[in-house]
Amino acid sequence: MKAVVFTDVRSVSVREVPDAEIEEPTDAVVRVTSSAICGTDLHMYDGRTGATRGLVLGHEPLGVIDRVGPAAEMVKPGDRVVIPTHLYCGLCVNCARGYSAACLRVRPGAFGAAYGYAGMGPYRGAQAELLRVPYADANCIPVPGKPGDDLEDDLVMLADAFVTGWHATELAQVHAGSTVAVFGAGAIGLLAAYSALLKGAGEIYVVDDIPERLDKARELGATPVDFREGDPVEQIRELRRARGLPPGEEPMGGVQIGIDAVGFQAHDRSAPATENPTQVIHDLARLINPTGHVGIAGVFAEHDLHPAPMGFADGRLTVPWATLFAKGVSVNFGRTHDRRYTVLLRDLVLARRAWPGIVVTHHGRLEDAPDLYREFDRREAGVIKAVLHPQLA
Ligand SMILES: NC(=O)c1ccc[n+]([C@@H]2O[C@H](COP(=O)([O-])OP(=O)(O)OC[C@H]3O[C@@H](n4cnc5c(N)ncnc54)[C@H](O)[C@@H]3O)[C@@H](O)[C@H]2O)c1
Ligand SMILES: [Zn+2]
Ligand SMILES: [Zn+2]
Repeated sequence: MKAVVFTDVRSVSVREVPDAEIEEPTDAVVRVTSSAICGTDLHMYDGRTGATRGLVLGHEPLGVIDRVGPAAEMVKPGDRVVIPTHLYCGLCVNCARGYSAACLRVRPGAFGAAYGYAGMGPYRGAQAELLRVPYADANCIPVPGKPGDDLEDDLVMLADAFVTGWHATELAQVHAGSTVAVFGAGAIGLLAAYSALLKGAGEIYVVDDIPERLDKARELGATPVDFREGDPVEQIRELRRARGLPPGEEPMGGVQIGIDAVGFQAHDRSAPATENPTQVIHDLARLINPTGHVGIAGVFAEHDLHPAPMGFADGRLTVPWATLFAKGVSVNFGRTHDRRYTVLLRDLVLARRAWPGIVVTHHGRLEDAPDLYREFDRREAGVIKAVLHPQLA
């Protein structure tokens, strides 16, 4: 089969690799129709997280089941399915408690796993014609319709981006009326803002410095904040002041909720060509109101091969705990627990109440992957979210 493989820092190729096969009785093999490229793939592409050469990339697939092992009971060949990024058994104590990203059976001796992901288990990635899906009954989420129908882009966003955006709003306790600031207007930040809108948040600000992404934030119904135009914390405070704060609430002139959808490759605002992995938490600590909440969905790598000048290889960071403590701000982190949200969000999409495919800007064949990775990485050609179609010749 053909697949996108990591070949070197800032280099991917499309290669012929051995077909995905049934290896365990509970497996399925899925013929992938759509497979999105994620900001997480860029951490590997940029040489930060030590992907081995030849690793098949990708963790955001939608497709049709081709074969199942003899122990798969719920899914069958021909079913159209979306496959969550973080695979899980569905049965262990963490899966049973709804913490599927910490599944205890998918990576023996450790917890949690993902497809095509350095340090997250032996599973090959989904930017390929075929994908082996372990524990198929748990990991194949059925969806109606036919490949290429009008929901293809919305459904592929259920594999990771929409679910992670939603997860970020859960980590940060967004509810009706919340004031929210999302840092990062990639697919994750945009879909976190979109999730906050769906939950009825009152005001939503999205911070970035890439014009097309800020335009997309506005299109979704959020207020864009361009950090090239000055300190985003002051900009948001000023926007809120200009709207008019309720009398007596001036000390609450920041926002109640902050979401980090950037992660460890955050740009330093005073020197945007360099990275500062603590930039966003410093901004959030200043911006969040007393008693507020922070949700961190951006990835912080445990082993960074090329840490930024203000970073450490093992992710030890200097964080303004005292400010967060004084304000009584809660901080929640982590990978998305797909099992908890994917079916609910699928049903929101099927009810035509959510259109997460709105963040998809580019489509291509597998052969287009080298160009799309380069453009996405360099923030060129307006790429926000690109989707590959492995069955297209
Ligand atoms: N928790 C999870 O389960 C999970 C799942 C998927 C992705 N992620 C992570 O979420 C993050 C975002 O993913 P994505 O696909 O949207 O990536 P992306 O690279 O497309 O987007 C990141 C955005 O952050 C912006 N940015 C950089 N520095 C900034 C700063 N100081 N302030 C504000 N914005 C800044 C960039 O301009 C860019 O638009 C990545 O770290 C990714 O690994 C986490
Ligand atoms: Zn992803
Ligand atoms: Zn499990």
